[in-house]
Amino acid sequence: MSETADAGSRPVVGILGAGRAGTAIARTLLAAGIDVDICSTRPPKALQHHLKIYAPGANPVRPEMIAERTRVSGPGVVVLAVPHEDLDEVDPETTAGTVLIDATNTWHDELLPGWLQAAIDEQLPTSQAIAGHFRRSTVVKALNHISHHELQDAAQPDLPTAQRRALALAADDDQARARAMGLLVRMGFDPVSIGSLAVSGLMNPDGPLFNRPLRREDILRHLA
Ligand SMILES: NC(=O)c1ccc[n+]([C@@H]2O[C@H](COP(=O)([O-])OP(=O)(O)OC[C@H]3O[C@@H](n4cnc5c(N)ncnc54)[C@H](OP(=O)(O)O)[C@@H]3O)[C@@H](O)[C@H]2O)c1
Repeated sequence: MSETADAGSRPVVGILGAGRAGTAIARTLLAAGIDVDICSTRPPKALQHHLKIYAPGANPVRPEMIAERTRVSGPGVVVLAVPHEDLDEVDPETTAGTVLIDATNTWHDELLPGWLQAAIDEQLPTSQAIAGHFRRSTVVKALNHISHHELQDAAQPDLPTAQRRALALAADDDQARARAMGLLVRMGFDPVSIGSLAVSGLMNPDGPLFNRPLRREDILRHLA
């Protein structure tokens, strides 16, 4: 499929990063009938072979095109799945006007961009720093607290929502939150809003919601 392929009637989600997380999210979206544009540091032609193995059906694009087709019907959704240590190489303008789902985490050995390290030093959640850096996008924290190993199998769109695995999300903007929740429902999860980005640390690697098979009530138990 070419970079400028017609979106047709299927929604399109962009994914920045085509590694373990990005391709697992792509597979889950594609299985739910959502088209995926995805990019990495590699040019689309070089990425094509990788995607044939790890996310068949995903459409490789250049980073500057990542939001293009998502905007066809209103503000699109782009998922950020680039390691924190590489974030200074991502141009925030590429996602301007989108709902940006921050699926990222900090790992101990990463050399972080100064703006992100400064936020961590101030004990702010990384998603707030990312919202400040990608200031022309509306950031929702989601999809960071489930492993790429589990994501696709955990998605169960055929089950009633209340019987599915629950995934938390946090956002400062209600419209963006609603858009991300709709996407998680369509993917096959039971989305549970935990509040604003200020409380998104609950979803981070040192938080109680990280990497656990949760039901709605498990998440709600952690809210004040
Ligand atoms: N692994 C998991 O289970 C998991 C689950 C949830 C969240 N996360 C989080 O998701 C993020 C990515 O983790 P990962 O495990 O997927 O890492 P990974 O396997 O190392 O993949 C990273 C991807 O980011 C791409 N990338 C790097 N710089 C980029 C740039 N400037 N523009 C576009 N793409 C760029 C890389 O491109 P190349 O392919 O060209 O090198 C690669 O495709 C991390 O913050 C991680 O904590 C991971």
